[in-house]
Amino acid sequence: MRATRERDGGFKAACKGPMDKIRVRGGNRLKGEIPISGAKNSALKLMAASLLTAEPVVLKNMPRLADIGGMSDLLMQFGVSMNIRRGQALGQSDTMRLHVPKIESALAPYDIVRKMRASFQVLGPLLARHGEAKISLPGGCAIGARPVDFHIQGFEAMGAKIDLEDGYVIASSKGGLKGTTFTVPRASVGATENLMTAATLAEGRTVLKNAAREPETEDLGRFLIAMGAKIVGLGTSEITIDGVDSLHGCEYSVMPDRIETGTYAIATALAGGEVELVGARAESNAALYNLLRNIGTEVTETNRGIAIHRNGVRPTSIDVTTDVFPAFPTDLQAQFMALMAVSNGISHIRETVFENRFMHVPELARMGANIRVEGDMATVTGVDKLKGAQVMATDLRASVSLVLAGLVAEGDTMVNRVYHLDRGFERLEEKLSGVGADIERLSA
Ligand code: EPZ
Repeated sequence: MRATRERDGGFKAACKGPMDKIRVRGGNRLKGEIPISGAKNSALKLMAASLLTAEPVVLKNMPRLADIGGMSDLLMQFGVSMNIRRGQALGQSDTMRLHVPKIESALAPYDIVRKMRASFQVLGPLLARHGEAKISLPGGCAIGARPVDFHIQGFEAMGAKIDLEDGYVIASSKGGLKGTTFTVPRASVGATENLMTAATLAEGRTVLKNAAREPETEDLGRFLIAMGAKIVGLGTSEITIDGVDSLHGCEYSVMPDRIETGTYAIATALAGGEVELVGARAESNAALYNLLRNIGTEVTETNRGIAIHRNGVRPTSIDVTTDVFPAFPTDLQAQFMALMAVSNGISHIRETVFENRFMHVPELARMGANIRVEGDMATVTGVDKLKGAQVMATDLRASVSLVLAGLVAEGDTMVNRVYHLDRGFERLEEKLSGVGADIERLSA
């Protein structure tokens, strides 16, 4: 494997200019196939969990995203050495080798954590292997306050001493973490994953009740098992971890990204046409596929993934409520709203996971959508047509919903602040133009 010289392993260099724009001209039907990348929200946690072992870990099917670059920057601060073998063509993923024989520092500075909340996931591995960590509190972000109190309560229940000082969490577990039974107050994905990771090296048994059941949490658990961890109950709301003395290196392939998959499935339902999502797994998006089938889109499993097919008929409106897995994911809410904006009828979209995840609404309204928000509910009255406009959004899923709306809008839609898209969608414009969308990236 070739060693890379770039500080972040070359991931940021691979993502183009952050201030670029994306121009979409609506009206084309989509036809062809889209390769699905590895899941961002699994890959980031696997990278953090590689801190648990002194042996090398090889991660395959890695997506090339700005957030992966951010996590690489952070891990290198702790003494992780990194090598990357790059996939070149669309559909060829990267392979990353991470090795941290010794933790050289356990400080996660504000400047990195504030840009990417997933940085907080290094707390569990650092505490478990190194016995201490100083991690900046992430702070709120565009989609909500997003506190980390459940993580902290869980680590305290495992015997860690936690102090908050100058915006930092200062954690120590000098006598080692102790297994415990902890009920996660709200099936939090991040808290479940942080605690499950730490528990792999704790003394005795840890039982996490009301645990997250998200496929990415399961993927992380399977990775930990490949490293020698003893975990049962993955994919259920009770996960049991028996601590072991040490973990070893392994080779692991990141699961396909269900949010990227869902985004292109919705894009096809919106624009019409027939697209095969190569590498996609049916079971991780069942809630979305049920809705799409109910509104007149064909969803079929193929031997390579999932095929989405919609003829010219306008989709019918349908209500949807986001919730923890296996319910409809909050990370597809904005994209589904773009579809409902041009559907026939009225749709009620309820967001129960984050308190402020409707920032795409005013932007969709600039394109002619008819949406009213009251509390956690958006009422979307479908319109015949959207019109292209200059738009921007403040998180990656909101941004991509504007690209999707642009696929059916009359004229040009210009999506600004492309750096949000680069955080979570690998080669978006190439993947969409590959199936016939009129889309291009314009350099700033
Ligand atoms: C993960 O965030 C994902 N991020 C999010 O994806 C996703 O939207 C979310 O899970 C829900 O599926 C990553 O995996 C990197 P939570 P996370 O802890 O772990 C509250 C994207 O677009 N809460 O399940 O932060 C919290 O405020 C991103 O890729 C507390 O109150 O989500 C939220 O309202 C956005 N205290 C709810 O629980 C805590 O200690 C669920 O959050 C923890 C969470």
